[in-house]
Amino acid sequence: MKQLTLGIVGATGVVGQTALDILGDGELKLPVKTVRAFASPASVGKRLSWGTQSVVVEATEAESLAQCDAVLFASESDISKRFIPALVERGILCVDKSSAFRDDPAVPLVVPEVNGELLETKNIRGKSLVANPNCCTTPLVMVLDVIRKNFGLKRVIVSTYQSVSGAGKPGLEVLEEEARQFFQTQDLSVKPSRAFPKSIAFNVMPFVAKILPNGDTDEESKIIFETRKILGMPDLPVEATSVRVPTFVGHAESVTVETEQPVDISRLEKLIASSKGISVIPNENPSAAGSAEESSDVAYFPTPREVQGKDEVLVGRLRTAKVFANGVSLWLVSDNLRKGAALNALQVVETCAGKGYFG
Ligand SMILES: NC(=O)c1ccc[n+]([C@@H]2O[C@H](COP(=O)([O-])OP(=O)(O)OC[C@H]3O[C@@H](n4cnc5c(N)ncnc54)[C@H](OP(=O)(O)O)[C@@H]3O)[C@@H](O)[C@H]2O)c1
Repeated sequence: MKQLTLGIVGATGVVGQTALDILGDGELKLPVKTVRAFASPASVGKRLSWGTQSVVVEATEAESLAQCDAVLFASESDISKRFIPALVERGILCVDKSSAFRDDPAVPLVVPEVNGELLETKNIRGKSLVANPNCCTTPLVMVLDVIRKNFGLKRVIVSTYQSVSGAGKPGLEVLEEEARQFFQTQDLSVKPSRAFPKSIAFNVMPFVAKILPNGDTDEESKIIFETRKILGMPDLPVEATSVRVPTFVGHAESVTVETEQPVDISRLEKLIASSKGISVIPNENPSAAGSAEESSDVAYFPTPREVQGKDEVLVGRLRTAKVFANGVSLWLVSDNLRKGAALNALQVVETCAGKGYFG
């Protein structure tokens, strides 16, 4: 297999850094020989590392990007729009983490476990652009896909609990600063910051990105649109409420699904557990069953802090939904920087490499 030169635009950001960490771990079947790191002019010359190797940040320039076999874009949409079209013309694989091209019907929006068949070489060669979903959509569709295939999907209601790292480096910095200030001053007045419209420390806000004319936020509208696109169900009713919470890394989602057929919860637990990239935390500790420790008030459930640094989506609190004739409610958590962002993007490159994209 060809040894690749992989470019990362936004290598100094939280998604870019996570991509470097994953490459350094060396667990993907990705034959990367050289990494080239790109960022804003302010970061040029900084030294970053991946595993035992180091890389110096370069200016983001078309000719330098064109020397790569594949480029992961982990910066804002305007940068993707500026550089990707010319790279695609030259057949360089571009995997875009921004939302720049997600709603373009000609651009595949891919979670390899769900619709990886879109990465067949014959589909993307000559186009060579793959968009990646929003960090909440990715884990959501992984679970919905299992439900759809086994019980049919009629309607989805989701509320998200999104960590501050979803707003990039500034989000992490602001939570840390506000928390530290609170312990110094005990001041709980609510103020805007450079990352959020209101204080986020010891607070929650039903607002991620801007409010659109229909009353949804931009984030909610992305979750709705992208879920339908990836599942290939353009008319699927989806209701989303996105909430920013004061956790550093890891997004959680509360999901209620109406299904075509009744959902056998223990069967669904097994189906999810055997699906690639997802683990289930059973409602009760099986080892305590029948023992003196067994207790209905002992709950087993995953939290964002437990999923930080993990590749899997963790699912728990599976139970029959009571508002529909057939349905299920559940809770999921996922590392928004790994499966929600960098890992999914690198898995796209890995899948393309495995399918012979690079020759
Ligand atoms: N964070 C998440 O959970 C998540 C999940 C899914 C998708 N995404 C998407 O991934 C992208 C990156 O997000 P992030 O959270 O990693 O943001 P971030 O931490 O704020 O990092 C932004 C990156 O963009 C670089 N950049 C800024 N201006 C640039 C320019 N003119 N030319 C080249 N690079 C430039 C920054 O470089 P400097 O350090 O030099 O400023 C930095 O490396 C965004 O599109 C975001 O929507 C993020």
